[in-house]
Parts: sequence; structure tokens; C-alpha cells
Amino acid sequence: MSLGKIIDKKKNNLFMKLDREKVPEHVAIIMDGNGRWATKKGLPRKYGHKRGVSVLKEILKSSKKLGCKILTVYAFSTENWIRPRKEVDFLINLFSEVLSDEIEEIHEESIKIKFVGDLTPFPETLKKIISSSEYLTKNNNNFLLNVCVNYGGRQEIVKVAKKIALKTSSGEIKPNEVNEELFNSELLTRGIKDPELLIRTGGEKRISNFLLWQLAYSEIYISEVMWPDFNEFEFLKAIIDYQSRNRRFGGIESLPNESFDDSQYSS
Ligand code: IPE
Ligand code: IPE
Ligand code: MG
Repeated sequence: MSLGKIIDKKKNNLFMKLDREKVPEHVAIIMDGNGRWATKKGLPRKYGHKRGVSVLKEILKSSKKLGCKILTVYAFSTENWIRPRKEVDFLINLFSEVLSDEIEEIHEESIKIKFVGDLTPFPETLKKIISSSEYLTKNNNNFLLNVCVNYGGRQEIVKVAKKIALKTSSGEIKPNEVNEELFNSELLTRGIKDPELLIRTGGEKRISNFLLWQLAYSEIYISEVMWPDFNEFEFLKAIIDYQSRNRRFGGIESLPNESFDDSQYSS
């Protein structure tokens, strides 16, 4: 059997294991490992970023096909500005290029695209493409793609705290009216449910300032695969692993024949 056929067979086996009723609605991804992937191949880091774009396209298609509704990807963090200027500029150009090339297809697929983060420091050209893409797709309701750029979870939380502080000092709301719901309603991700699943590729076991508030009870899946090598097969593995998790949210697993009553035990 050819290698291609073996891979297809493995993929089909995974598809059979998938529980269509338990597909996460919202998946968040830290797309990490582009640079290491390229370096290992003796290539400049930018080749990893380039290849990463096609992987995102594949995962976007796949998540739609599997029945997810929202994909939130980490493309550039508030900390990534400390990278060499050449790499930062390359990434900014890549965002513009990819967005102009792909927006028509994204729209045809009835995907709504949103950019999450502080866009202020980006060049006007990128800002324009972003706002026209968001405008073009704003009424699409098949699927939501959130792209986090110049995004930082701490910065997001501080911004919300500032907004709420202003509202309380102006008397618009009382301090004891500040609650999780109000906080949620001021987040950049307002109105959408928290991710059920966070995938990080590239093997690092950290959050790196991503969606600190929203990930409170997300299941975490770390893939050792570098983002440029990630694919539908690896994505399926993550979803199936998620489906085996016991999400307790601080409670306990419900066991039919067990009760809290310990009268049968003598103390
Ligand atoms: C993730 O890959 C992409 C961005 C942060 C923009 P990296 O560029 O962090 O790749 P590694 O982690 O150095 O391999
Ligand atoms: C997280 O990856 C940010 C993105 C994937 C955009 P980093 O490569 O920046 O994270 P660290 O530095 O390994 O924590
Ligand atoms: Mg990295």
C-alpha cells in the first residue's frame, strides 16, 4: 500500500471515531513553531510563516467541515514586536498579502472575519484591508474566523478594567454592579462563547498571553507538531482527544450509583 493510501486509511479511521454531536463550537489555536520548522530545514524563518498560511487555510476548511462554528487564531502577540524588525515587517506584509488574496474566497464561503487586538500600530494599508474585509463579511453567519493580531490577554483585561473604572467614576454604573457578565461584555471577544478547546502547536506548554480570561475552562491540547506541518489529521486528533475529556468545571463526575451519603461507613 502506498504511503498516501496508508495516511488516508488512518484519517478515515479517525473520522470514524469522531462524535459529530460533541464537536467543539469554538476552537482557539496558538499557531506556533513556524521559525523552528524553517530553521530545522536550513531555511530562513520567513519560509515557516509562509507555509503556515496554507496550514491555516486547511484548518479553516477542516474546522468548518467538522461542524465547528468559531476559530480563533493567534497570529501576532503584543510581545512579538521585540523580534527583529525584518521579521516583524515580513509578518505585517504577509498579513496584507494573504488577506487581499483570500478575502473573496472567505466571503464566498460565508465566513465572517474579525481582527482581534490593538490595530493602531499597524500601517494604514493593512488597517484598510482589515476594515474592508470585516465590512465585506460582517453579515456572514456560517462561520466566524477571529484573527488575533497585536493581541495580549493582559492588555485586554486592563483595557476592560479601565473602561469599567471610567463608568463607575462617572456614575454610569455602581461599583457593586461590576460582575463577570459586565466584564465579558467589554472584552474584544464579546458576544461569543469561550473556546471549549485550545490547541497549541510547536510543543510549548504555555499560554503566552493568549485569551487569559476566555480560556478559564478550556480544554488544552498541546501538539508537538510544528504549525507548518500541522494538518487535518492532527486537527482531528486534537478534536477526538477533546471528546474524551471529562469536563467538570469544578464539579465532580456524575456516577449513577454513588451518593454523598456515607452512612454505610462507620466513622
Ligand atoms: C509562530 O511561530 C508565529 C508567530 C509568532 C508570528 P514562531 O515564529 O513563534 O515560531 P517558533 O516558535 O520560533 O518556532
Ligand atoms: C505565541 O507564540 C504567539 C503566536 C503564536 C502569535 P510565541 O512564539 O510568540 O510565544 P513564546 O515566545 O514561545 O512564548
Ligand atoms: Mg514561537
